[in-house]
Amino acid sequence: MPGNGPVYLDNHATTRVDPDVVESMIPWFTDNYGNAGSGTHAMGTEARDAVEAARKRVAHAVGATPREIVFTSGATESINLAMVGAVSRQSMKHCVVPETEHAAVLDVADQLERQGLSVCRLPVATKESKAPGALDLDRLDEMVSSGPALVSVMFANNEIGLVHPISDIADIVHAHGALLHVDCAQAIGNCSLDVTALGADLASFSAHKCHGPKGVGALYVRRQQRAVRIDPQVFGGGQERGIRSGTLNVPGIVGMGRACELAGKTLGVATSHMASLRTTLWNRLLEYIPDIRLNGPPIDSDVRLPNNLNILIPGIDGATLLAELSRTGVAASSGSACSSEQPRPSHVLRALGLSEEEARQSIRFGVSRMTTLEEIESAAERLKVAVQSLGHV
Ligand SMILES: Cc1ncc(COP(=O)(O)O)c(C=O)c1O
Repeated sequence: MPGNGPVYLDNHATTRVDPDVVESMIPWFTDNYGNAGSGTHAMGTEARDAVEAARKRVAHAVGATPREIVFTSGATESINLAMVGAVSRQSMKHCVVPETEHAAVLDVADQLERQGLSVCRLPVATKESKAPGALDLDRLDEMVSSGPALVSVMFANNEIGLVHPISDIADIVHAHGALLHVDCAQAIGNCSLDVTALGADLASFSAHKCHGPKGVGALYVRRQQRAVRIDPQVFGGGQERGIRSGTLNVPGIVGMGRACELAGKTLGVATSHMASLRTTLWNRLLEYIPDIRLNGPPIDSDVRLPNNLNILIPGIDGATLLAELSRTGVAASSGSACSSEQPRPSHVLRALGLSEEEARQSIRFGVSRMTTLEEIESAAERLKVAVQSLGHV
């Protein structure tokens, strides 16, 4: 029973590390701290074997082969390596990104633009449409038709939970001989994922979004059928087949492997549990705050991540409400963790056509497979009290 205890509902920002994952990592700090690149002694070769076992687990979780997985420090690094590395290796002149991508993609596109690349930012369907946030695939088709291009599209949006039709997007991109990078940071553990079947050329992953440790991630680089070549961005010891140099984070990689394995084993039960909690939270809030509005796709739509809820309460400032919720022990947020220190309203909600004021009145909840029904009921009660205390009638 949470009583007045903390309720963590910011699982798009990061998730609790599964105790089983922590346990799998500990021996790689304590008993065997060998360098996976040291081939002259058992501690080194055991560390290397542990990395290769983790690589198999990550590959299995995302529908890749182990040779297609490159370990990195997280999705941000994977995205930078994918985008900058592909553009540089293939001498591309053109890049297409939807307006609702994460800053980890948009800022790379801005940087590539400063270096002379032409960047097209694809607008999305507005809140009035049946599928708010959906990409206009005809516009995408036009945008990729003007020469060798890199297209980067997220698997699922971290603010409104919208899941994009990646395999349709891949068909369009490939018909023009362009390359597709998919930011899968929000996917593992929330959706079934097969990057090969989806037709991704490059895909980025993060361990801490699926109950793994922070500071570790992976990049999928397609090697089957048409192999993709990218230029490395970090140079040094030639680890990860020279694509990403630097001593491997063995405990982190082992933890990511275990987190991916657990995500696969629990997927079916976890997604229905999360969807049920998320929908219960929405129904309670609807009961308590009748003028509340939902941002993004319909609540039980199959194109909404099962753990996502993004709401707008007219007349209530989101930052003030979040501070009040935090005072009562409920953790939620207004959008991307990376930008929550900046007071700017969400670019995702603005792209959906919300006014600046509406975007500022919006907050995001993310449940996880570890969230309980009691926590949801308690958080909904605390939200009701917080909203009343802010003068909402
Ligand atoms: C969609 C998306 N892409 C990229 C990232 C960056 O991931 P990381 O924290 O692993 O660098 C995040 C994290 O918030 C995200 O939600």
